[in-house]
Amino acid sequence: MNINKICILGAGTLGSRVALQSAISGYQVSVYDIHQKSLDFSLKTMEKILRQLEKAGELSEEEGKMALKRITFTMNPLEAVEDADFINESVTENPELKKKVWKQFGEIAPERTIFTTNTSYLLPSMFAKDSGRPAKFCAFHFHDVFYSRIVDIMPHPGTDPDLIPLLEVLGRKLNQVPVLVKKENPGYIFNTMLMALIGAAGKLKTRDVAEIEDIDKSWMVNFHMPMGPFGILDSIGLETAWHVTHNMPDAASQAFAKLLKTYIDQGKLGEKTGEGFYKYPNPSYRDPNFAK
Ligand SMILES: NC(=O)c1ccc[n+]([C@@H]2O[C@H](COP(=O)([O-])OP(=O)(O)OC[C@H]3O[C@@H](n4cnc5c(N)ncnc54)[C@H](O)[C@@H]3O)[C@@H](O)[C@H]2O)c1
Repeated sequence: MNINKICILGAGTLGSRVALQSAISGYQVSVYDIHQKSLDFSLKTMEKILRQLEKAGELSEEEGKMALKRITFTMNPLEAVEDADFINESVTENPELKKKVWKQFGEIAPERTIFTTNTSYLLPSMFAKDSGRPAKFCAFHFHDVFYSRIVDIMPHPGTDPDLIPLLEVLGRKLNQVPVLVKKENPGYIFNTMLMALIGAAGKLKTRDVAEIEDIDKSWMVNFHMPMGPFGILDSIGLETAWHVTHNMPDAASQAFAKLLKTYIDQGKLGEKTGEGFYKYPNPSYRDPNFAK
């Protein structure tokens, strides 16, 4: 099938990135959110990413301008899905909210529209029925979109198998490397491995074994990495991490969720708000002397 228009639900960290890459790849894009503030911030985020891509020589200023022209921002759900061939949902990582959103869009999207969710740790089978078209429903999960270019394709048992090759082609058109997760798994492939690292880092901190900077240094120095688990958490966003850990029943995850909440309550959501575990735009871990 021909995909011309992509609709993005949720204009946060990931929705903005997927939307921008879709426009760069030549698709018409609508970005929907319930908050005007998020839509405004989304445009600012896109402009910032475009400047970075231009600086890195990956895109010309003209190409960036053309990409932005392909994007519309709206709080009107009907306008968002009008003529949409494909939806990628990136609303807050909350199962009840996602169910509600899929029910809403299942009722108003054109018959042909393919439905995908960008959930990090939930499963597509949790929302497929709510969408009203489970065969057309699949997880299509991005990482960072521009820096980390893997997209997970994870069907649920009721997904039409013909959707998989189509998603593989789309993933490549969006400049990603598609990988297939053959059976539903919370956290796909990479996030399953990443959670083990972040969970261990959280446990080291909540049990007061070590301080955040020393935990990050251990990882960075040993693996020659530009950031450690708490730096990674800042780039993911503390709210998203809280939703994941908060939904896990074990004591260590609950203790970590409590720690994350103390930052969130102070408005420290990570890089996007200028502060999380570190302060941005110049976090201490980017100082050349940090890991010496
Ligand atoms: N942050 C990451 O690194 C990352 C990576 C891959 C996938 N994801 C997934 O993407 C999704 C979004 O994460 P994020 O980090 O972008 O979150 P975010 O908090 O930055 O953005 C979420 C957006 O959803 C909007 N929203 C809330 N309710 C809505 C509704 N009813 N309709 C439309 N929009 C609504 C919010 O206003 C907000 O703008 C989550 O499922 C998350 O697991 C995140």
